Amino acid sequence: MSASSALWLSAKGAAFSLGDAPTTAPGPGMIAVRNRAIAVNPVDRMLPAIGDLITPWLRYPAILGSDVAGEVVAVGAGVTRFRVGDRVLGHAVGIEKDRNDPAEGAFQTVSLLLEHMASPIPDGLAFEQAAVLPLGLSTAACGLFQPDFLALQPPQADPPAQGETVVVWGGSTSVGANAIQLAVAAGYEVVTTASPRNFDYVLGLGAACAFDYRSRTAVRDITAHLRGRRLAGVLAIGAGAIRAGIDIAGASQGRRFVAVATPPAAFDRVKPGPGRILQLVPAVFGMLTANVALALRARTAGVTTKMIWGGSLLGNAVGPMIYADFLPSALAEGRFRAAPPALVVGEGLGAIPAALDRLGQGVSAQKVVVALPA
Ligand SMILES: NC(=O)c1ccc[n+]([C@@H]2O[C@H](COP(=O)([O-])OP(=O)(O)OC[C@H]3O[C@@H](n4cnc5c(N)ncnc54)[C@H](OP(=O)(O)O)[C@@H]3O)[C@@H](O)[C@H]2O)c1
Repeated sequence: MSASSALWLSAKGAAFSLGDAPTTAPGPGMIAVRNRAIAVNPVDRMLPAIGDLITPWLRYPAILGSDVAGEVVAVGAGVTRFRVGDRVLGHAVGIEKDRNDPAEGAFQTVSLLLEHMASPIPDGLAFEQAAVLPLGLSTAACGLFQPDFLALQPPQADPPAQGETVVVWGGSTSVGANAIQLAVAAGYEVVTTASPRNFDYVLGLGAACAFDYRSRTAVRDITAHLRGRRLAGVLAIGAGAIRAGIDIAGASQGRRFVAVATPPAAFDRVKPGPGRILQLVPAVFGMLTANVALALRARTAGVTTKMIWGGSLLGNAVGPMIYADFLPSALAEGRFRAAPPALVVGEGLGAIPAALDRLGQGVSAQKVVVALPA
């Protein structure tokens, strides 16, 4: 393996900086991947400012990032699914509590991936497009399939109709695009929300119908659609999604469970550096009051809510179920799309901070990606 470089976060609240990365051989059950494309996620923007709240265990210097696609350059002991030279995508889990290892972060030229959190990329799927999948896919899978969330039946090639409906609030997000496809692949009807300009997009991913999340009648309209149907649960993505999900589940027959991807308060305005505490206090207060109000609303409606952690599948059966059993053939056979479309904003690790700024400006049914040419 040749020398590797990385985009380091040297300390809590520091700015990103480019530097060398040690060449680490993959351990048992791991592969080393020379990254050819990296996608960025909202959490990558939040960690420099509020990493002490989200990932208090994180050791510095750290290498952030979750979404990679590239070529296998080394395999560890016991690896059977991959060989050197294979094209793969994978969820880099370096910030996870049980890993906490910069060598397993995405923002570097060579990342170590767990074999069971990686999938081959079929011919014809570009690295840049493959890189859109991992964290969105993992988060959706955690909410839909983990036993302590919606506990849906597993996705498969020819699923039997389950006779139940999943509500994906926020279907045009990266998480939502994956959730729609996974729930459909598991045999469920999917009702979703998006801006009207993205209705065709979410219907194309398999949703049965779409509603505008900004409409004042969205909750009522979805509840009306669910009348006579059996709810399998709600996946709540986007601002306001938890409250909407509670109201929908509380008015429906079936599983009154809301799996939550988006926390009830935004921390976007909190920036690292001086003044952080002053920005943090109202955000934390907003989170606490929103949590209390939503807990009361859920209790009154007889609804259970639970926050998803998109990396939790790495330690349970859902990780291999998605990355080893389902995704490889589903992608190769065109049963699952790498969605949303990639928005490639630059080349090289040095382009990642600007990519994070671009994500902060907002995207619509797109994933911000940085290419790493060979
Ligand atoms: N808990 C976890 O482990 C975890 C992991 C990953 C992501 N997340 C969270 O999940 C959310 C989605 O992340 P992402 O990367 O998938 O986002 P994203 O793709 O960047 O989100 C962009 C999309 O958000 C939609 N949107 C904006 N406001 C919305 C609202 N109020 N309700 C529903 N949809 C709305 C927009 O839809 P239109 O363009 O159609 O208007 C747009 O397409 C974020 O809050 C993120 O922090 C959580």
